[in-house]
Amino acid sequence: MFNSDNLSINENNHLTIGTHDTVALAKEYGTPLYVLDEDLMRKHCRDYKEAIDKYYSGNGLILFASKALCTMYTANLAESEGLGADVVSGGELYTLYKAAFPMDKVFFHGNNKTQSEIELAIHCGVGHIVVDNKYELDLLNDIAKEKGIIQKILFRIKPGIDAHTHDFVKTGQIDSKFGVALENGEAFEIHKYATTLSNIQVDGVHCHIGSQIFEFEPFCEAAKVMMNFIADLKAKLSLKIKILNLGGGFGIKYDSTDDPLTPAEYIKKTAEAVKKVAMERNIDLPYLVFEPGRSIVAPAGITLYTVGGVKEIENVRTYVSVDGGMGDNPRYILYGAKYSAVVANNAGAKPIAPVTIAGKCCESGDLIQENIMMPEIKVGDTLAILATGAYNYSMASNYNRIPRPPIVAVKGNEKKVIVKRETYDDIIRNDVL
Ligand code: LLP
Repeated sequence: MFNSDNLSINENNHLTIGTHDTVALAKEYGTPLYVLDEDLMRKHCRDYKEAIDKYYSGNGLILFASKALCTMYTANLAESEGLGADVVSGGELYTLYKAAFPMDKVFFHGNNKTQSEIELAIHCGVGHIVVDNKYELDLLNDIAKEKGIIQKILFRIKPGIDAHTHDFVKTGQIDSKFGVALENGEAFEIHKYATTLSNIQVDGVHCHIGSQIFEFEPFCEAAKVMMNFIADLKAKLSLKIKILNLGGGFGIKYDSTDDPLTPAEYIKKTAEAVKKVAMERNIDLPYLVFEPGRSIVAPAGITLYTVGGVKEIENVRTYVSVDGGMGDNPRYILYGAKYSAVVANNAGAKPIAPVTIAGKCCESGDLIQENIMMPEIKVGDTLAILATGAYNYSMASNYNRIPRPPIVAVKGNEKKVIVKRETYDDIIRNDVL
């Protein structure tokens, strides 16, 4: 009935997540409230890990893409399931470092890493830096030389794959700010140049074609293109590439129109494509890395709000205002993202009419969903927005000086605040009079 099996309805007609009554959670912790089903997040980590074991003889690693949800608790959770992680900024890196995440299992991305971020990465002992461009390569080589280390790297490659997804989250095509292109020889030249640098060791190649992708074909196509490039590097430069990192991007179900594949299906098909080229081109199988973010954590999260004013504008639409909005979930205003909503205290009720769920920010576009079919909604109801575990907390802001909500993790019958609710004092902590 709902997006994922961990959601259900109890005897009070309340929405449950795992064994927990969401209305009770809203009452105990207040709203807005992010709730994370730790058991489901763990299951997704395991599904990916098992798929690598089954379809690629365990010769690889799943990285949790921290940007989807970066907290010390979730980093530890991913680590305890045997995952590594990718980070994309000094802040994400610092979060993992402070959580004592094993740094050799961290890959550091970004199209414009600053000198201080690179220094931090080397100080922390980050396993692999995914180098975006020649400027960064030279800078990294200089810093590594100064610190007296050889830094292991991968290059971020644009494989020339145009995935069918929102323009803002497409990254594999030549017109992208990320990485070096294959089709114009840029990627080949940078590898050639890197072999002349004293403090750089090229271990692998990386690509990420986009996010919220439902088909497996673009991943297989990317795998094929990248494997052929690895074979070319071996043939032309005698460069042995050990790691193939194919990024993340696997789609999830936001509403009933979405029909994603399972992690096992994505990994199986992609691993087959990798093996096929390895045979054809007579090269060794690389260590295979994937970086799922959304598909690990989005379905495990929901956001709970309290309904305030309900405004019926005759012949126009009905606005249902909630006590959060674009501050805790900017995905509708940014991408027109789809979501499913449930009246948590009347979860079995049938939809009767379309409503527009609006946030409380001073911004007309601050909506969570427009014209979505809902049951009757009254002031004081608890509204649940589903599949908000990824790119909600991590993209939240303090616009209008609204404090960010806490995250409560539920696990079996236990529950725990893993990120505290911000206070007004948190809001002014950096203000100087
Ligand atoms: N690896 C790299 C290099 C990435 O850039 C990304 C996402 C991932 C892995 C993880 O992709 P995932 O499995 O989560 O699709 N804020 C947007 C999504 C931006 C994704 C950016 N990169 C959204 O809310 O839809």
